[in-house]
Amino acid sequence: MVRTMSGIQPTGNLHIGNYLGALVNWVALQQQYEAFFCVVDLHALTQRPDPVALRRAVREVTIGILASGVDPDRATLFVQSHVPQHAELAWILSCLTPLGDLNRMTQFKDKSGNQPENINAGLFTYPILQTADIVLYRAERVPVGEDQEQHLELARETVRRFNHVYGDTLPEPQVVKSHAPRVMGLDGETKMSKSRNNEIGLFETAEETLQKLRGAKTDPARLRRSDPGNPEVCNVFAWHGFFTPAAQRAEIDAGCRSAGLGCVDCKKMLAANLEQVKGPIRERAAVLREHPQRLDEILAAGAAKARAAAEVTMELVRGRIGLRAAAAGSGQP
Ligand code: TYM
Repeated sequence: MVRTMSGIQPTGNLHIGNYLGALVNWVALQQQYEAFFCVVDLHALTQRPDPVALRRAVREVTIGILASGVDPDRATLFVQSHVPQHAELAWILSCLTPLGDLNRMTQFKDKSGNQPENINAGLFTYPILQTADIVLYRAERVPVGEDQEQHLELARETVRRFNHVYGDTLPEPQVVKSHAPRVMGLDGETKMSKSRNNEIGLFETAEETLQKLRGAKTDPARLRRSDPGNPEVCNVFAWHGFFTPAAQRAEIDAGCRSAGLGCVDCKKMLAANLEQVKGPIRERAAVLREHPQRLDEILAAGAAKARAAAEVTMELVRGRIGLRAAAAGSGQP
């Protein structure tokens, strides 16, 4: 069965960008593929999180993944650091990755700009660990948002290089894009991101969301309600595209252009439609929080399955590169 793999960092709370850009596809792909989904706590170390906050974030992100519809009976859901093979393979792949390739990564430039006081080596080699995450499960489908596409291209190149040097061993992963690969933040200028403080949180209440939406950027040229607006340049209208049925969207479009509908009312409609999606997720999350033991069981079972699958790949890889006897029938001396 073809495998799918993806990961989310436990840094801050999940937002609707994570949900639309990645989680929606995780839920869909688990039906079709053998799925491995991972809370990538080793990646989060690049931001040197407070240990207590990190532990809490791992649990909250796991809860968010489950509440969004990932089914632990179908998908293997686990925490990256519970599977030591991730770090082992990352080292092996780092010895195959030219510095020049890492230098091209735009996320490194963004992230080092965000934390100039802590530009650590992990931030630079981060895409290699991400490649290891994928390759360890021999995954061929990787659901991610647009911001991760460059990392996926690097992963593909690394796989090609490995196969060229050591013989055909690993499959090339492909990106699976969602219908919302780049959700913009409340500022309307940068992508929604945990580190930019411009997000609509997945667990926020309807009131909190409406409060945030009040300050969200709309069509910059529309200053008064009586000015006609242009939905094509309005970020709030773009969000309606993900949460609002087509007929209501057409009404909003017409109302905005004719100035019959004001921005405040348009935002209230969006908040109500967002709540249709977020309300049930919030409720499922509350139930999961009441059963911490259940969460521990899910993660322990996931880690055991992930370790077993990872070890199969590692045995193959170690044999190919000369760290162990080559596997029987591998064609290697
Ligand atoms: P992370 O934790 O930043 O984001 C998790 C997922 O959410 C997507 N995403 C978005 N999609 C659309 N619009 C947005 N504004 C938005 N913000 C985030 C991301 O593209 C991602 O799919 N390096 C990865 C995690 C990772 C990973 C992996 C992913 C580690 N190992 C292996 C896939 C496979 C990251 O930092 O994602």
